Amino acid sequence: MRRSLAATLVLAVLLGPAAVGAQLAEAPVRYEDDFLSSEFHQSRREAVASTLPPDGVALFFAAPTRTRSNDVDYQYRQSSDLLYLTGSEEPGTVLLLAPGGVVVDGRRVTEILFVPPRDPASEVWDGRRYGTERAMEQLGVQLAVESTRFAGIVPPLLREADRPVFLLQPFDAVESDGHLAPQLSATGGALRARGGADVDSSLLRRTLNRLRMEKTPEEMVLLQRAIDITAEAHREVMSQVEPGWAEYEIEALLEYVFKRSGSEAPGFQSIVGSGENSVILHYETNRRTTRPGDVVVIDIGAEYHGYSADITRTIPVNGTFSPDQRAIYEIVLEAQRAGIEATRVGNMFYAPHQAAAQVLATGLARLGLIRSANDQAGLRRFFMHGTSHYLGLDVHDVGTNGQLTPGTVITVEPGIYIAADEDIDPRWWNIGVRIEDDILVTNAGPQVLSARAPRTVAEIEALMR
Ligand code: GLY
Ligand code: MN
Ligand code: MN
Repeated sequence: MRRSLAATLVLAVLLGPAAVGAQLAEAPVRYEDDFLSSEFHQSRREAVASTLPPDGVALFFAAPTRTRSNDVDYQYRQSSDLLYLTGSEEPGTVLLLAPGGVVVDGRRVTEILFVPPRDPASEVWDGRRYGTERAMEQLGVQLAVESTRFAGIVPPLLREADRPVFLLQPFDAVESDGHLAPQLSATGGALRARGGADVDSSLLRRTLNRLRMEKTPEEMVLLQRAIDITAEAHREVMSQVEPGWAEYEIEALLEYVFKRSGSEAPGFQSIVGSGENSVILHYETNRRTTRPGDVVVIDIGAEYHGYSADITRTIPVNGTFSPDQRAIYEIVLEAQRAGIEATRVGNMFYAPHQAAAQVLATGLARLGLIRSANDQAGLRRFFMHGTSHYLGLDVHDVGTNGQLTPGTVITVEPGIYIAADEDIDPRWWNIGVRIEDDILVTNAGPQVLSARAPRTVAEIEALMR
């Protein structure tokens, strides 16, 4: 539902100033629904099929549903690979690709999507299903059949011992759930009946790693939106937060901006670590109350139609970095600049890490926190993670780990984390700083997709004033 700013203001008057977003610094960013086209997914299926032998069959299973407690599930998230290949967000779905064609109901087809059957009684509870007609119409798959037919169609193909079979992962690693159990047991039985004939569970993974690594322009629209929403959330917190806010209040404001802007969910648990929690890399508890003098590491990413952003900002909760916090911050920022500078076509995936680590070591040595710029063990004490990962449908996305190529998006996220250890001068205690941006590799050099989130000391302090 669209709500105008005027209506928001009326609501604010009715509910009081704390209730709704009228007091937010920025007007909501709103997006129309802009899902990937069925042609995109079709082109991805064709790209995968082109790597298979003509008589091969490849199977892709939906992600399992997961129980949170008793009869309540976690919010469903489709397997990124199946989402990429079909656009379907339905559990219980299986895609079969057969580039040389297989005959179903007297018709030769190269792809089959097995979908849960329409079921009015279940749909009243759980929402509409595609069903076969709508799956063909909206997803553009050549043939959709009800998943109840899986056992009659797939096992006979798999039992042909000389037909190459391709899976994304070893079959015994595929997780089951209620929707997929019959299809998985039929598959398992047929694979065993092959008598151990070879099943390839690495080619599809390698192919999808390569394809998913380089984003098409259509994908970049969605990823950029996820990033813009996330940058807006950072700006909102910077302009509102004060000492005394609990970490979860910061989290609430961030995720309010996410959802208000059409993000379906955070792409990962939001990390809001203040004070001593700023030095815990993946702190997700978010229960502490901030105090004057804290830095707060805020590592967040909105997911938009499957694509996740990943942006970290570190802010002084009272609006001004102390000189010591600032000294650490400037080193991390300089390291990040070096990492971004190294995010170039032809460089290896690890080049940004090497560049950033060198700057961090030099800076830490200058402050006397490590022995020298060559002190690798010392560096690891304060910087214990990698600098980059691929970004896309998964926050830690797939890729080749080889040379950087145009269209690839990686994060560059150096950090320094100083715990309250006795052998360290207390002036540095509980200063954790991470700065993370999302970088597109282009032939014209690195493009910072997340530049809308203030990054320098001056920009952050100005917005927090
Ligand atoms: N948000 C997790 C990471 O930065 O890799
Ligand atoms: Mn992150
Ligand atoms: Mn990251």
